Amino acid sequence: MALGFWGTPVASHRFGDSLQPKFMAFLNEHYFKLKAGYLFPEIARRVRTFAEERPELAKSLIRCGIGDVTEPLPPSAISAMHQAINDLAHRETFRGYGPEQGYEFLRHAIAENDYRRRGIDIADDEIFVSDGSKCDCGNILDIFGHQNRVAIVDPVYPVYVDTNVMAGHTGPADKNGAYEGLLYLPCTRDNGFVPEIPARRVDLVYLCFPNNPTGAVATREQLSEWVQYALSSEAIIFFDAAYEAYITDPEIPHSIYEIVGAKNCAIEFRSFSKNGGFTGVRCGFTVLPKSLVALTSHGVKKELHPLWHRRFTTKFNGVSYPTQRGAEALYTVSGQEEVRSLIRHYLHNAEVLAKALRSAEFEVFGGRNAPYIWVKAPAGHNSWQVFDKILKDIQVVVTPGAGFGAEGEGYFRVSAFNSSANAEEAARRFTNLKW
Ligand code: MLT
Repeated sequence: MALGFWGTPVASHRFGDSLQPKFMAFLNEHYFKLKAGYLFPEIARRVRTFAEERPELAKSLIRCGIGDVTEPLPPSAISAMHQAINDLAHRETFRGYGPEQGYEFLRHAIAENDYRRRGIDIADDEIFVSDGSKCDCGNILDIFGHQNRVAIVDPVYPVYVDTNVMAGHTGPADKNGAYEGLLYLPCTRDNGFVPEIPARRVDLVYLCFPNNPTGAVATREQLSEWVQYALSSEAIIFFDAAYEAYITDPEIPHSIYEIVGAKNCAIEFRSFSKNGGFTGVRCGFTVLPKSLVALTSHGVKKELHPLWHRRFTTKFNGVSYPTQRGAEALYTVSGQEEVRSLIRHYLHNAEVLAKALRSAEFEVFGGRNAPYIWVKAPAGHNSWQVFDKILKDIQVVVTPGAGFGAEGEGYFRVSAFNSSANAEEAARRFTNLKW
C-alpha cells in the first residue's frame, strides 16, 4: 500500500496490465452517484440516434423539449448592445473589468423596476448580476454548510438535485433515483403540483414558481404558508422565479418578497433568459437580502450577504458589459413592451398546444401562467415510452416527466418555446396522435 501526500494510505490499483502505486490527484467521487446524464443531453442523444436511423423523418422534427427560446432578441436590447460595443471601441468609453457583482446601472434598474416599483424594499446592492439562474442555483451552495437538511420538490428542475449530489450533500440514489439524505416533497395532481409543508423541519428548501416542469403557480396564501414555515423553523427558501414574467393572473405573486417576512428567509433567483430571450446571451441575478442570516457550527448567527459577495468577487469576473447594457434596456419603456410581446407570443403557443392536447384527450396542466404544459401520459405508458412514441410517430420532441423525478413518471412536458409555425404544426400533429 502506498502513502498519499498527507500520509494517508492509498490502495494500489491497475494501470494497463501492471499494478502500480497511486500517486495522483483524487477526483470528486460524488459525481459517480449522479444518474446517467443530465436530462437534456440524454434527450439530445436519443434524438440524434433517431435522426441517424430515420433521416427522412428527422427533417421535419419539431423541438418542444428543452425550454430554449426561439425568437430574436428584443430590438431595445440589440441596439443597447450595439451601442455598448461602440463604447468598447473607443478609449474614452472603453471598459475593462467591471464590478464582479454587476454594474450599478443594471443593479439599480433591477431593484427599481422589479422590486421597489412593486412596493418591495430591495436595495441595489442586494442584487447580484450573474450569467444565469441555473449557475446561481448551483453556486449558492458554496456559502452553505454541508450539515444542512435539504428539501426539494418532486418533480423538480434537475439542477437543484444534481448540484447537491456533486457537493456531497447526499448519499447514493435508490432504485427509483431518490437520493439518500434529501427530503422529497411530492407535487401531484391532488395538491395542484404545489408541495405541502413538510412535517419535519429542514434547513434549505427549493421552490420554483411558476414551476418548471409542471407550469403550476403558487397562490399568495400558499407562499405565505411557506414563508411562515421557513421563519418558524429558521429555514432558508431558495426561490427560483425564472418564469415570473409568464404570470398573467393578477393575484399570483411574482416575487417571494411580496410575502411579509420573506426578506428574512428567502433568496430569489431570476433570469433574463425566458423574458428577454437571453438563453444564449447569458444574464440573470440573485437577490440576497442583507437581513438573511444562517448559523456557524458554533451556533452564531451571521449574515449571508458578505459571503455571497465574497464568492462573487473571488470566483467570478462579472457578466460582459454589452450583455449588462442589453439587460438594462429590457427595463426601458420600449424594452418592457417588447418583452410583453415575446411573452404573449410564447403564451399563445402554450394555448394552441394545450388545446390540441386536450382535443386529443390528454389531461393537461399548466401553460396558463407558464411556458410549460404538463401532460398525463395515457394509462399503461411510462414517460420515456411516451417520449419515444411521440418522437417516432409525429417527430415532436417532448421531455419525459420521469427525467424530473419519480413523481414525474407517467407525465411528459411540452415546451411552448417555439415559432408560431412550429407550435401550430406540433399542435396539428398532437391531434392526430393515435395510441
Ligand atoms: C428547461 O427546459 O427545463 C430549461 O430550459 C432548463 C434551463 O433553463 O436551464
